[in-house]
Amino acid sequence: MELLSDCPVHASVPDKYVLPPEKRPSLLNDEPSSDVAIPVIDLHSADDCRRQLVAAEIIKASKGFGIFQVVNHGVAEDVVQGFREAAAGFFAMPAEDKLPYRSDDLSKHFRVSSSTPYDRNGDRYWLDYLKINCHPVTDEHVREWPDKPGSFRSSLAEYSTAVHELAQTLLRLIAEGLGLDGGFFAGDLSGGSTQMNVNYYPPCPDPSLTLGLLPHCDRHLLTVLSQGDVAGLQARHGGRWLLVRPVPGAFVVNLGHQMEIITNGLLASVEHRAVTNTDAVRLSVVTLIMPKMECRIGPAPEMVNEATGPAKFKEFEFSEFIKAYSAAAASREDVLHYFR
Ligand code: SIN
Ligand code: FE2
Repeated sequence: MELLSDCPVHASVPDKYVLPPEKRPSLLNDEPSSDVAIPVIDLHSADDCRRQLVAAEIIKASKGFGIFQVVNHGVAEDVVQGFREAAAGFFAMPAEDKLPYRSDDLSKHFRVSSSTPYDRNGDRYWLDYLKINCHPVTDEHVREWPDKPGSFRSSLAEYSTAVHELAQTLLRLIAEGLGLDGGFFAGDLSGGSTQMNVNYYPPCPDPSLTLGLLPHCDRHLLTVLSQGDVAGLQARHGGRWLLVRPVPGAFVVNLGHQMEIITNGLLASVEHRAVTNTDAVRLSVVTLIMPKMECRIGPAPEMVNEATGPAKFKEFEFSEFIKAYSAAAASREDVLHYFR
């Protein structure tokens, strides 16, 4: 199938991208709300005596929204821009340069593809994407990464390393804010090989007919996302879709299912989706922090307490969760239901 990025302009939305009316982003309650805003947290002061306050802010945002943004996060702007430009450059290459990387083989360390039908109805979404195994950065990974544009490999390695450090900082703050040992999430819970998704949403001639990404919750522990300055990410809050407003240089952080399970539901994973727009390409760089596949997961004993009540989830191996997630996604079921 052709990539959307192979075509310079799309004059209309091809039929296969037109969603059935009930799935289109035009329901009455779909308007981005302006009265409630997803918190933006300044991490700068996490370096000093205000650390506890920052940790508390993160927990408050995580409980209230399951998603927040961070600024002054310590990842240099040129590292972010460097990789964003290289990724945009990849999508801008002629079709024949992308062709060798076109694949739906999940075992590849680097591949480009276009929306495939996500569920039994065969709906397609308005995006192309890169799937990259990016951490730890090994020779085996790097060999499969593209060597065009010229800066791709080096900027990806730099970006991935920096975002991993940020993820560990965030996990430490979350652990401290929960009253757990600061290193609680380090090690196997966040040490799985990491995947990065780069989503490319071209301008869409009619955003009311399609979506960039279907509503979903993330299956892993934590997501650290750079959305640039083009809006499109929305999160479910209070029964409505709330726009995650682009904040210059910020990272969006959202909690995945594993965080919900480990905290016995105190922090909840958030449903989110991407809408399209008529004017600009939107590029999001999404880093997924995962447990190791063989890691055993369940509510942490410290989190089964008066506030959260009896354990809400059974213990399982993370690999079982991933299998169940794919099956549930295919039938649009709630995956957590299998583990309650
Ligand atoms: C995602 O949920 O993986 C990405 C959403 C976005 O493109 O902002
Ligand atoms: Fe997501």
